[in-house]
Amino acid sequence: MHDQGLPQELIRAKRDGQALDAEAIRTLVAGIEDGSLGDAQLGAFAMAVFLRGMDAAETVALTEAIRDSGEVLAWDDLDLPGPILDKHSTGGVGDLVSLVLGPWVAACGGFVPMVSGRGLGHTGGTLDKLEAIPGYDIVPSRVRFRELVRDAGVAIIGQTATLAPADRRLYGVRDVTATVESLPLIVSSILGKKLACGLDALVMDVKVGSGAFMPTPAKSRELAETIAEVASKAGTPTTALLTDMSQPLAPCAGNAVEVREAIALLTGERSDGRLLEVTRTLATELLVAGRLAASGDEARARLDATLASGAAAERFARMVSGLGGPGDLLARPEAYLPEAPVRRVVHAAQPGRVQRMDTRALGMAVVELGGGRRQPGDAIDPAVGLTQIAAIDDPVDAGHPLAVIHARNEEDAERAARRLRAAIDVGEGHAVPPTLIHDVIRREAP
Ligand code: URA
Repeated sequence: MHDQGLPQELIRAKRDGQALDAEAIRTLVAGIEDGSLGDAQLGAFAMAVFLRGMDAAETVALTEAIRDSGEVLAWDDLDLPGPILDKHSTGGVGDLVSLVLGPWVAACGGFVPMVSGRGLGHTGGTLDKLEAIPGYDIVPSRVRFRELVRDAGVAIIGQTATLAPADRRLYGVRDVTATVESLPLIVSSILGKKLACGLDALVMDVKVGSGAFMPTPAKSRELAETIAEVASKAGTPTTALLTDMSQPLAPCAGNAVEVREAIALLTGERSDGRLLEVTRTLATELLVAGRLAASGDEARARLDATLASGAAAERFARMVSGLGGPGDLLARPEAYLPEAPVRRVVHAAQPGRVQRMDTRALGMAVVELGGGRRQPGDAIDPAVGLTQIAAIDDPVDAGHPLAVIHARNEEDAERAARRLRAAIDVGEGHAVPPTLIHDVIRREAP
């Protein structure tokens, strides 16, 4: 038994391997939120959870307490004619799924209030990409956000101070106490924020491979299963997909270049590829979970129709102009999206086929070019990045480059070229292209 009131007694109970009940967890999270739990206590609590773990009931209670630590968005008063749906990803390189999925699901009748993040480590951030669009406001007023969700069906914005504030403080302490890599802390952190958006269903994209957040396929699977279970027990039906990140998902990585790619996919300029397939599969799960389609086949047919008709592109355009971006971005992207002054085509040292790649290193090459941050708060360069990145099993030779580098200057381009050649293994013979979608883990709310 643990004393319900005193934080040190609750921390001691967790330290000694006991399970905390929901009341105890609520007490601790209330202390995070109102500041009565000091940083030392918070660090000790995080370490106790890191070392002892949490069972499913504790993780659900922690998720719900973080979700409820601030405002929980409610949409009932808007009388929306469809479900509130969202997607979250553990992040990757060339992973611009959100930019395409949000408007696409909106065009199919869903409402997508997507609160997104910035780049973290080697992974790109949806907000950084959207900020490559001149004028796009990632922090609109609450009223504007709700209007846009109602009118465009989608609004992708930044984290607000009122959503899940306990997570902000807990995450900050975890970051400096070597307690980030804890499954219950990761799950409750991700879900606490997402479930505060008042969702009817969620789909989670958990990456596997050399560019994934989790270090091994087994850990990615454990995260996917735990997220699906905990979110569903917390009342939000959630499906988790395990998808490939052993190479960039799109043939490009950076900020403006990824927005350009999203426009190419939404307008039908490009119509195949791994990115579109993963996005279609995630969106299919959402349409079925949100009862916008009776089956996967019906969902896919609807998705294909809204892409072909231009309805998905139109939702993207409405979101961009509704948040202050140019009204004709889709018609004239080159007039608005910044371009880097130096372009360098990088070839392999010898011809062959791409055998495998260090996707994390490719992401770090983009960070080094200036497309990501070295320190929190650093300004980033929206124009730099990589395009035409070769895929696993693609031939590379004098006519087929490893990638094209977009850099601010020659020196940066040279360094990125060295990184790229080291990160992409070229050899003779065919390589087996990695499985794109490893598994789909579905959990209904109880
Ligand atoms: N992303 C989050 O939001 N929280 C974590 O703990 C890890 C990744």
